[in-house]
Amino acid sequence: MAFSEAQEELVLRSWKAMKPDSESIALKFFLRIFEIAPAAKPMFPFLRDAGEDAPLESHPKLKAHAVTVFVMACESATQLRKTGDVKVREATLRRLGATHVRAGVADAHFEVVKTALLDTIEGAVPEMWTPEMKAAWEEAYDQLAAAIKEEMKLAA
Ligand code: HEM
Repeated sequence: MAFSEAQEELVLRSWKAMKPDSESIALKFFLRIFEIAPAAKPMFPFLRDAGEDAPLESHPKLKAHAVTVFVMACESATQLRKTGDVKVREATLRRLGATHVRAGVADAHFEVVKTALLDTIEGAVPEMWTPEMKAAWEEAYDQLAAAIKEEMKLAA
């Protein structure tokens, strides 16, 4: 499916609105992931090491991962519109494939993260949220996830 200029605009506009608050939105994003899939928690080594009861909000790495997923989905949207394809730098993509295979990430986890991402954006910018905005973020995320999953197959 071609990604339109209007779709890119929807992704970038909502990201711009969220950006000043990206740390706390990123944290909510992760809390939502673990709400949907508590079993995903032990995949994150720094959470495992910190013990069961350590507060999640004290993990800078968790926030960093969450912000990265947002930023990469935005970049994905821009590239999809310009080139019809996701271009993560090859070296980066290869590393992402290896990291996620090592962490035991499976296809189902990408679905969980997608749902959590969409829920979080809806909660962060409810006044902007429309079915069109949802579809634009979905497409940008799906294409990015597909590129990582492809690389995971090669790394497995
Ligand atoms: C690590 C991005 C989806 C779990 C990372 C890293 C990045 C990243 C940039 C840092 C390490 C590296 O650069 O190799 C993304 C993007 C995703 C995504 C863009 C979706 C499009 C997921 C999913 C899961 C997951 C679905 C599982 C719930 C992890 C874990 C690590 C990691 C466990 C390792 C953390 C660590 O050891 O510090 N991810 N990720 N990621 N990701 Fe993801």
